[in-house]
Amino acid sequence: MCGIVAYLGRKAAQPILIEGLKRLEYRGYDSAGIALLEGGRLAVCKTKGRISELESILNPPNEAQTIGIGHTRWATHGAPNDVNAHPHVDYTGKIALVHNGIIENYATLKTWLSEQGVPFVSDTDTEVVANLIGYFYENGDKRSDKEPENRFEWAVQRALHEVYGTYGLAIMCTDYPEMLIGAKKGSPLILGVGQNEYVLASDASAIVQHTEQAMYLSDNEMVTVYPKSFHTKTTDNVLVSRELGEIEFSLDQIELDGFQHYMLKEICEQPARLEKCFSGRVDVRGGRVVLGGLATYSRQLTQTKRIILTGCGTAWHAALVGEFLVEQLARINAETEYASEFRYRNPVIEEGTVVIAISQSGETADTLAAIEMAKERGATVLGVVNVVGSSIARNTDAGVYLRVGPEIGVASTKAFTAQVGVVTMLAIELARRRHLGSDQASAMLKELLLIPEKIRHILSQSDEIKKVAEANVDRENWLFLGRGVNYPVALEGALKLKEISYIHAEGLPAAEMKHGPIALITKGMPVVFIATQCSQYEKVLGNVEEVRARGGKTIIVATEGDEEIKKHADHLITVPQTIDHLQPMLTVVPLQLMAYHAAVLRGHDVDKPRNLAKSVTVE
Ligand code: AGP
Ligand code: GLU
Repeated sequence: MCGIVAYLGRKAAQPILIEGLKRLEYRGYDSAGIALLEGGRLAVCKTKGRISELESILNPPNEAQTIGIGHTRWATHGAPNDVNAHPHVDYTGKIALVHNGIIENYATLKTWLSEQGVPFVSDTDTEVVANLIGYFYENGDKRSDKEPENRFEWAVQRALHEVYGTYGLAIMCTDYPEMLIGAKKGSPLILGVGQNEYVLASDASAIVQHTEQAMYLSDNEMVTVYPKSFHTKTTDNVLVSRELGEIEFSLDQIELDGFQHYMLKEICEQPARLEKCFSGRVDVRGGRVVLGGLATYSRQLTQTKRIILTGCGTAWHAALVGEFLVEQLARINAETEYASEFRYRNPVIEEGTVVIAISQSGETADTLAAIEMAKERGATVLGVVNVVGSSIARNTDAGVYLRVGPEIGVASTKAFTAQVGVVTMLAIELARRRHLGSDQASAMLKELLLIPEKIRHILSQSDEIKKVAEANVDRENWLFLGRGVNYPVALEGALKLKEISYIHAEGLPAAEMKHGPIALITKGMPVVFIATQCSQYEKVLGNVEEVRARGGKTIIVATEGDEEIKKHADHLITVPQTIDHLQPMLTVVPLQLMAYHAAVLRGHDVDKPRNLAKSVTVE
């Protein structure tokens, strides 16, 4: 959940660390800190609050300090305060480290170290790792009288053998002033390799302005970096040779480009990004979808009798759209599972089951764990992921990249529409392999390729949608209602509003309202309906009237040209006509914009909402 960055090179490390932390701040932002190493002396500066707070207390950069580590935190163990902020220094004052992850057995280790007389100053699990490394560094290997070749490297390996849990670590030692160690297990860590300079970071957005050459560490691996070289080992001290790869995006893709917030930029990018997502994958003439990443599993996909889609949050909403489309179009038994539940439920997974894991970051701990569980039970596990080279991309049997570029705003928008786009393409292709005729498939795919332009048309209504938000922004409870494939969209609209405007919102199947939640309707309560022209349109109109009869205020997303709906709506937002199955990519856009405008009107930090972080790499 947090962001770590480290630098070893010839330039002053401080400005590079701060710039890197700013690129990673969307991953966590309750406290921040850096540690610099110069001639065997550690200089640590850390504070509760944002990186801007840290900047305000830093000394000017020192050209002689060319190695350092930095951290922007999302606390899991220990309140967000100055003492619990990272970097953590061990009791000997020689080891400094930053950590992303959770040390599951930190309490046991802390007790043992305390019994050895090791003092602690913080409440974090991370400090235990620093002290464990410091303990082994100070006491050496009692099991052997041979001095390790590199005592710092050995102490890190020895300590990590005692640790259960997840970590992305960047570590320095005052006795090794020209050395940096990174280690990874369960949390992401990438090494950027420049011209005699190296950047370790949680994700490539902190690296891309220095170099495009990068290496993604795998679990149980560590990298030792020197001024002009590096080597990779397992934490069992076995050398590993790893290829460098190209970072998949450029710096301009993570700039604001004049937008006030990344979220608005990413909402507006959706047409272009969806076009990229579809590019080269849709054969309208042949009525086929070509998802190259799944080619080796074509037989499993063609023959499977059961598809389980899983993810968290917004990705789960996209999975639910996928479930409906796979069933409706391909007539395959499909179900959607919250990854956090699926991983513990000991589910029945028959031979031939296909599990599709959906994730923007590719680092969500619950989704990763669900994947491992499904693979252990013999399922074919496919990933629908945005971040290239991410853990989920590497831990699934095969997969499809979203190709929407980095998504910086904590509230997911362009990734959602692309996730829906991918599961829609997959459902059409699976249907085509079974019973869907080429003409029908061609017609659907032709309409699919028109979706980006139709989104552009919706985006042009942003000012009108802002007015809707303005008229209702002071209301503390909203309902979002939809039917069929628009029911997951209602859930997604509620989540967007909740997570950035802090207004309580609940998404429901429209028909479910009368089974209890209708009791919530009070005069003026905003109820958002997705009432586009579709097979259940008349039923939704009935639900609209049930709300109006009780004084609720109806905000309706309807199909352009629908005159009937006007007399039912207190606020009307229209989307272009499209076939039922493709509506989610359109109907979600007004809800994204409404949530965005509500959050701005409430004066919130849209891109970094309170308590949240972009990638939930802890459980
Ligand atoms: C969405 O707006 C939220 N930020 C959150 O629900 C997110 O979708 C969820 O944490 C899953 O993240 P992932 O797609 O990176 O796995
Ligand atoms: N568990 C560590 C802490 O609470 C790191 C948290 C994180 O990865 O966000 O400080």
